[in-house]
Amino acid sequence: MKLLPLDNPEILELVAGWLAQKENHQWLDFGNGRQVVTPTLLKIMAQRPTHFMRAYTSDRDETPIGICGLNSVDLNFKSATLWGAQGDKVFRNRGLGTLAASKVLTLGFRDLGLETINTWVVDGNPSLRLIQRLNFRPIGRQRQCHFIDGQAYDRLLFDLLASEHESSEGDRRPGGQRAPRQAVRGKHEELRVAGEPHIGSDSRGGPATAEAGAQRDARQG
Ligand SMILES: CC(C)(COP(=O)(O)OP(=O)(O)OC[C@H]1O[C@@H](n2cnc3c(N)ncnc32)[C@H](O)[C@@H]1OP(=O)(O)O)[C@@H](O)C(=O)NCCC(=O)NCCS
Repeated sequence: MKLLPLDNPEILELVAGWLAQKENHQWLDFGNGRQVVTPTLLKIMAQRPTHFMRAYTSDRDETPIGICGLNSVDLNFKSATLWGAQGDKVFRNRGLGTLAASKVLTLGFRDLGLETINTWVVDGNPSLRLIQRLNFRPIGRQRQCHFIDGQAYDRLLFDLLASEHESSEGDRRPGGQRAPRQAVRGKHEELRVAGEPHIGSDSRGGPATAEAGAQRDARQG
């Protein structure tokens, strides 16, 4: 699997097309209730230090099949919010979404120096299992705050500390601790790959689910 920055019009169009699909964006929130992002907004987000986004490929070739990112990246408080969506549904349920998220978590902890990464899942979204497999800990429930087709759902809140993230071999954070448990387990384990190219802390990119700054960024852009 390779992680690709959103640095050209083709990949921006592709990812925006995935996020335009209701089956993806109904579970997301790009700030102030915005669930669909245009390629232009995506480009602006990709240039903001508050976002870190990477498209990911399958293990078959270099075609992007999904997107995973961190939003609300705060280098002062060393925190961010994880989100993701798979564009090519042919590759669903093969562990690739889990693997991509694991690798983005590694980059967040190791290269961006984050100490905690949180996420949320709408109650009833089957991707909850992916979050649990990544070792995220439940931290609460935000009630009746997410609407799909006019119906209110709860959001289940999670977080993960740097010391609790078990990354692929070779992604180790200098001086960082590793938890004894493995974040990517079972049938997905064989999909783990090591040696992702180093991305410096000055890398830009990335977006996300709840990002209140996205629209503000767009206006500023
Ligand atoms: C979340 C998502 C990226 C996962 O991609 P993926 O490559 O299929 O993920 P994995 O194969 O690593 O793991 C999927 C796990 O979640 C479950 N799952 C996730 N989405 C599912 C769906 N739509 N239907 C059935 N099961 C689903 C699977 O059962 C599987 O769990 P299991 O292996 O224990 O059976 C993809 O389902 C997606 O794009 N969902 C829509 C957007 C979304 O919900 N994003 C999460 C909110 S941030």
